[in-house]
Amino acid sequence: MDRPLSFMRLLDIHRDMTRAYRQHLAALIALNWEGSLSLLDDFGERLSCHAFLEETYILPVYAERAGSIPGGAPELFEAEHRRMNDFVIWLRDDIRAALEAVPQPGSARESALDRAIDILEREFRFKHLLEHHDMRERNVLYPTMDTVTTDAEKASLLSLAEG
Ligand SMILES: [Fe+2]
Ligand SMILES: [Fe+2]
Repeated sequence: MDRPLSFMRLLDIHRDMTRAYRQHLAALIALNWEGSLSLLDDFGERLSCHAFLEETYILPVYAERAGSIPGGAPELFEAEHRRMNDFVIWLRDDIRAALEAVPQPGSARESALDRAIDILEREFRFKHLLEHHDMRERNVLYPTMDTVTTDAEKASLLSLAEG
């Protein structure tokens, strides 16, 4: 069956990214530092790729046609992309530092747990931002794009944005 011609399809990419992010988080909670780092790299690549495609193909059309929408200025989406990409860099640095830290004799597990707890604070701020951004696109960007584009434009923009 053909997929619907709607920008809401891009939520499938969000869902896959959320899944990848949660795998990273689960590895961190299990104190699997190497695994959590490589899963974060995988997630970070997907995130920056999706943000780049949105900024290249979706947001310029939205900025031109959507008019003024409260909570929906194009710059807001771009600012959140930058902030999410920054978070991934900070988290990568945090995890690398934890990987390189020399455990104290006799208390390796406790110190690893302490480090993970500190990193989780940042993880949860990031998780909140990710959810917030998903909601903003789910409620504003994608439905608005559905109303301001023709079917032919939808088909071509979606094929570009879905990579
Ligand atoms: Fe986005
Ligand atoms: Fe998105």
